[in-house]
Amino acid sequence: MTEEEKQKKIDEAIARLKSKQQPVEEEPVNKPHEEKGVPGMGGNAPLATERISGTEEARNRLNAEFAADDNPFSHIKHVIGVVSGKGGVGKSFVTAAMANAMAKKGYKVAIMDADITGPSIPKMYDVHGPAMGNENGTYPEVARNGVKIMSINLLLQDEEAPVVWRGPVIAGTVKQFWTDVLWGDIDYMFVDMPPGTGDVPLTVFQSLPIDGIVIVTSPQDLVKMIVKKAYNMAGMMGLVW
Ligand SMILES: Nc1ncnc2c1ncn2[C@@H]1O[C@H](COP(=O)(O)OP(=O)(O)OP(=O)(O)O)[C@@H](O)[C@H]1O
Ligand SMILES: [Mg+2]
Repeated sequence: MTEEEKQKKIDEAIARLKSKQQPVEEEPVNKPHEEKGVPGMGGNAPLATERISGTEEARNRLNAEFAADDNPFSHIKHVIGVVSGKGGVGKSFVTAAMANAMAKKGYKVAIMDADITGPSIPKMYDVHGPAMGNENGTYPEVARNGVKIMSINLLLQDEEAPVVWRGPVIAGTVKQFWTDVLWGDIDYMFVDMPPGTGDVPLTVFQSLPIDGIVIVTSPQDLVKMIVKKAYNMAGMMGLVW
């Protein structure tokens, strides 16, 4: 694709976003694709009238007030969050390892990179943007082993550009990754979380029909103390049995 064609696709994605973007409390400081907000996430897809992704049990756990709308073009059977609370302990590595193992078994697998300020997944899979879309939403990129990926770094023009956004904008982006991405049929979606117990894990736990979580830790007392916070947070959300 020529640079001109690429730019045209980007402009189209921005136009789609503008038609859908919800007002937010704070505007992003930086402007991906020279525009405010998340480019390409949107489209004019009709809102799903019934929930079509997630297990019944996981959907029942969701509070309607926070639940993210399904995309009518996505059917995601199982959603698994990968958390730790602590940074650098191997969440992204474990996410990719699990995704690869399931893909190898023949399942249809996706990774939602919910680490908006420190996205690792596209680099690990050597996939690059800009993610393409149509009026119904944005397509994930597909890795060589078939794993579908959506990450903020597939939407930014410069992969090294920092994302300097307030919490609500970051959390809103994660919800858009669920609602506005055309995931198609997925057996297992793994959600790679950022460190901490902030807006993103809270949004994922409250808005997506999570079946369960994988908690990643390393064997140091300091790490364990912080990872326990993530464990306790998941407990508060009804995700520890
Ligand atoms: N099991 C492992 N053995 C050896 N090295 C590992 C293992 N898991 C991860 N690493 C290495 O540790 C580093 C951090 O891993 P990774 O990026 O997966 O952590 P993370 O928890 O996702 O970090 P962040 O909180 O920044 O998102 C990477 O360089 C990765 O290659
Ligand atoms: Mg990571």
